[in-house]
Amino acid sequence: MKWVYIEDIAEYLDQEVELRGWVYNTRSSGKIRFILLRDGTGIIQSTLFSPEKDSPLFQKFDQLTQESSIIVQGQVQKESRAPGGYEISIQDIQIIQIAQDYPITPKQHGTPFLMENRHLWLRSQKQHAILQIRTELIKAIRDFFDGRGFRNLDTPILTPSACEGTTTLFETEYFDQKAYLSQSGQLYNEATAMAFGKVYCFGPTFRAEKSKTRKHLMEFWMVEPEVAFATLKDIIKLGEELVVFIIGRILEKNKKELDILERDTQPLEKVQKPFPRITYEQALHNLKEHGSQIQWGDDFGAPEETLLSKIYDSPVCITHFPAQTKAFYMQPDEENPEVVLGLDVLASEGFGEIIGGGQRIHDLKLLEKKVSEYNLPRKDYEWYLDLRKYGSTPHSGFGLGIERTLAWICNIKHIRETLPFPRLLHKLYP
Ligand code: 4AD
Ligand code: MG
Repeated sequence: MKWVYIEDIAEYLDQEVELRGWVYNTRSSGKIRFILLRDGTGIIQSTLFSPEKDSPLFQKFDQLTQESSIIVQGQVQKESRAPGGYEISIQDIQIIQIAQDYPITPKQHGTPFLMENRHLWLRSQKQHAILQIRTELIKAIRDFFDGRGFRNLDTPILTPSACEGTTTLFETEYFDQKAYLSQSGQLYNEATAMAFGKVYCFGPTFRAEKSKTRKHLMEFWMVEPEVAFATLKDIIKLGEELVVFIIGRILEKNKKELDILERDTQPLEKVQKPFPRITYEQALHNLKEHGSQIQWGDDFGAPEETLLSKIYDSPVCITHFPAQTKAFYMQPDEENPEVVLGLDVLASEGFGEIIGGGQRIHDLKLLEKKVSEYNLPRKDYEWYLDLRKYGSTPHSGFGLGIERTLAWICNIKHIRETLPFPRLLHKLYP
């Protein structure tokens, strides 16, 4: 008999098929027994019918517990009252393993308990829906860049130097020297961009963020495009197009999951380009008008980002930040060198920053000066300075954080639910 998956069940109407999965729930009603079976791709109602209470099939049914693994064989039927519109009329059940005392029951559990059991929590409907959207989001991002001729060239995870400041580095041993887990692929991306024109890297990045917030992971995934000859303006457009593209794709492909999450999709449907564009200066003015105490030169923290992202009914692009709030590689503005051509894109609905990037310094002398001002060991950056000696050109790029973006799309308050196994402050299990 053919082994099929629940998501494809409509193709097998009236046919005999085999399903392999886990018991989500069971219930009895007179001469009928029901099993809600999940196989990772969906959940389907399966029915057993027998006039005798102790038929061999019912005896097997009586052993079943939540999350027991089984293989069932039966006929696919239309059933408008069943979730999904189809059901399986079971002819045989093979028990693979009976699960004892599955810890996650339909009753309410606290988040610490669920996080301890993250390896099992993944099977729950809501968690499953979030991660299902995650896989589509990643695919959409790749389709976006691949479809525009970007070359996917991934950058190293073990690195000798910092990209985003030295305070959040995870250090490790690399034979007889120190190495750090990559905070961003950007510096290497700049080299591949000079070799291939337009590139992206997509990988895990690491930051020893010592603050415990709803928005920070120690390990997160970032997609980072980099484009030779592109200016800040070009990269803003690319960022907007990317965000509009991925939101459109999720709205198209993940209706079922968004329903399970009870996500009001209206704010997402409104995500259209161009996004409002404001400078740091204007953002500061808005914040002060809304009662913020922030001063020129301060970095926007979570409260400021949340506020800004609520003032606008759309994602918003912020540019022209005070140089001291940003990394060493940011290109100063020609008209006002106190500010740099950085770009942050804030999501709507208070979700804050999802994109960080901007235009990079292309002048050798200026970059040398910055490396020294930021106290970076020059010898580790010689190769990076080389890029300014041999055919230097303005270039720009950004990083989009997958988990922050997914939290926004799913309207999830805490980032810990946006990847299978989050790494949080002091938390490494499971
Ligand atoms: O703004 P960030 O630090 O920018 C960079 O790393 C640049 N070098 C990227 C580039 O230009 N190629 O980080 C970019 C994005 C943020 O906007 C946010 O979405 C995400 O990465 N991010 C985090 N996500 C989860 N947990 C953290 N601790 C994060 N730190 C940054
Ligand atoms: Mg940033």
